[in-house]
Amino acid sequence: MSLELARGELLRHENFIDGKWIAASGNASYVVTNPATQARLAQVANSAAADARAATDAASRALPAWRDTLPRERAAMLNRWHALILANTEDLARLMSLEQGKPLAEARGEVAYGASYVAWFAEEATKIYGDIIPQTQHGKRMMAIKEPIGVVAAITPWNFPLAMIARKIAPALAAGCTVVAKPAEDTPLTALALAALAQEAGLPDGVLNMISAARDEGIAAVADWLADDRVRKITFTGSTAVGKHLARESAGTLKKLSLELGGNAPFIVFADADLEAAVQGLMLAKFRNGGQTCVCPNRIYVHDSVYERFGELLAKRVSALHVGPATDAKAQIGPMINERAIDKIAKHVDDAVANGARVLAGGKRLSELGLNYYAPTVLADANDAMVLCCEETFGPVAPLFRFTDEDEVIRIANDTPFGLAAYFYTNDVRRIDRVARKLETGIVGINEGAVASEAAPFGGVKESGYGREGSKYGLDDYLSIKYLCQGGLG
Ligand code: SIN
Repeated sequence: MSLELARGELLRHENFIDGKWIAASGNASYVVTNPATQARLAQVANSAAADARAATDAASRALPAWRDTLPRERAAMLNRWHALILANTEDLARLMSLEQGKPLAEARGEVAYGASYVAWFAEEATKIYGDIIPQTQHGKRMMAIKEPIGVVAAITPWNFPLAMIARKIAPALAAGCTVVAKPAEDTPLTALALAALAQEAGLPDGVLNMISAARDEGIAAVADWLADDRVRKITFTGSTAVGKHLARESAGTLKKLSLELGGNAPFIVFADADLEAAVQGLMLAKFRNGGQTCVCPNRIYVHDSVYERFGELLAKRVSALHVGPATDAKAQIGPMINERAIDKIAKHVDDAVANGARVLAGGKRLSELGLNYYAPTVLADANDAMVLCCEETFGPVAPLFRFTDEDEVIRIANDTPFGLAAYFYTNDVRRIDRVARKLETGIVGINEGAVASEAAPFGGVKESGYGREGSKYGLDDYLSIKYLCQGGLG
């Protein structure tokens, strides 16, 4: 598969600032590579603080006019963008597969998933209501109105190059905010193509600005946004360590933050669960995007009485997964994003085996396919001495822990600083209510492994962050409430 697109103009190498495509300061650039082959894909702008500043200048200039547009005008703009994203699915999916590694079918699915947030927030734009507060004194009227928060900085990860940036930009634009955005260093091409489509949809200059950057320069660029009081909000998806850094560094200008951070999701299979359904749910939740998802189950707790049977069923399904590059039409699992990722996966599996894990499937690198491939893996006899019990593996590894008691498994499931997603399978209705309430996470899958939806609130508790993306709640993070008190009324 090559970078030849049906519409070659969607392959962008420069920054998008104030409606223009411009090189980074000093013409700096860096190389984006294909994780399947390590081959060079493209050379893109390597932006630094000056470019971040130029993006903020443009977003600040554009804010007053965009803020004053009618919600229906913003909705119409988002709907045009949505239609263009869908119309260019093949090119976007191809860019995404090449720079991120996910199989083409999955990349097409992500285009539809990301676009669904744009359509959703087009509708939400027209529902930004305020309140007239019941009177407490004669002659006075009190009102609460909602206003866009201002310039928003969106910083996104590599695992979903389209969906993560779409679900930040769409609510920001719907609310009347302007945006400066930086996609992950490994995967800027899909995001830049999205910006090109927003421009084609007719988005006014400066309303959306996007810069790409390699790691160190990206840190400097983001530091500029953190210190700039014109940027009123940061929305970030990525690691907890970086999220904490952003919270600390933005304290100087007290920005509003939405942080969608790491997880360590438990997946619990009770003795009365439908085992076939639980295996199917786990396949969806764990192996989507090769296990590189923050809501992926990281610790699978299976009741002792069904443990061996569940392990057998799962290992059979996992061994049948087809691994290969996006060019392979049969591929269900692609390469991991880079060498750091594959080294971490190998380290977790080796450590688990050294601590007594039994390999039921996989358990090795697939060097014959390339540097970044790891076999989908099932490990039995996992225990809490293993690194993978407390660190997110972010790869196609399913470790099975054994449990016997409901209270005990809930305690262990919650025994982590993280709280993004949890899943459980049971056919007992009373247990459903009990367990769902006790799990300390922002998202709970009950007899269901596919939880993400544009209509649902996505986000965590504890060190998995705060703020919600998608749903009717997703717009609130981009709005502030203003209280109006009118006196002198008759
Ligand atoms: C993520 O991994 O950050 C998001 C996954 C999703 O939208 O399901």
